[in-house]
Amino acid sequence: MKHLIDIKDLSVEEIDELIKVAKDIIANKEKYSHKCDGKTIATLFFEPSTRTRLSFEAAMIGLGGQVLGFSEAASSSVSKGESVADTTRIVGVYSDIIAMRHPKEGAPLVASLKSVVPIINAGDGGHNHPTQTLTDLLTIQCEKGRLDNLTIGLCGDLKFGRTVHSLVTAMSRYKNIKFILISPKELVMPEYIKKDVLEKNNIEYCETTDIEEYMDKLDVLYMTRVQKERFFNEADYVRLKDYYILNKEKLKKAKEDLCIMHPLPRVNEISTDVDDDKRACYFKQAEYGKYIRMALILKLLEIK
Ligand code: NCD
Repeated sequence: MKHLIDIKDLSVEEIDELIKVAKDIIANKEKYSHKCDGKTIATLFFEPSTRTRLSFEAAMIGLGGQVLGFSEAASSSVSKGESVADTTRIVGVYSDIIAMRHPKEGAPLVASLKSVVPIINAGDGGHNHPTQTLTDLLTIQCEKGRLDNLTIGLCGDLKFGRTVHSLVTAMSRYKNIKFILISPKELVMPEYIKKDVLEKNNIEYCETTDIEEYMDKLDVLYMTRVQKERFFNEADYVRLKDYYILNKEKLKKAKEDLCIMHPLPRVNEISTDVDDDKRACYFKQAEYGKYIRMALILKLLEIK
């Protein structure tokens, strides 16, 4: 049985196949609408979510399946002290596949060790978010037509932002990728990603605090929210939350075919005047998330 805990649980070939299936789903929705008849996904969300949880649920419903779950820890028996391992073991009896989001890094991995059904990590603390990365890869493939030969700017909270950790890990397996890491000094990319992923794979990268410095070089600009819930003190969050606000002015030097992405939710980091720019891809990106999750559910349930 296969789980998806870390993006590296999937080979590049498997990711290519998922992207191919997702594109086929987009083109032929009807063909897939009964693939999961009689199947149920459980979404166990111990942390807030809109897109991730609802896109998993929409994905299963789009495949003809059913949905159950909870959207906050307080409404589950975890609030009585039940362990994640026990909760998952039981939910596996009521469902065929589980998507779990948890504030503790590694919780979905722990859950997978005892689970009788496939577990999907839907975000664990400031660690990983592999299905957001699948969403991002499908978006880049559809919008840029390739996953290699790209200069990618990652901007915002690179320390606590789990989406960028998984994205860097995934992209480091493609050819000729360069990263521009744009963050305040306090929120730089963790050392373990720089050493064990970027440097180990000889990926070119540079770090800057200035969002405009390399704007003209970027093929993709991936904005992120400052992760309020991971801060130890409110004053630091308040000081850093509006560090970057992307607006039309800052895009003046950007390429005509730049792809602007954001996993969402957006707080202040992209001004709404960018929304109608043809380079803004973040709302489309959220839509792609449903289709790649449909492809993932089919794969993990071994449905052809
Ligand atoms: C992201 C997350 O939860 O890490 N959201 C999402 O899943 N689309 C990004 C964020 O919350 O900032």
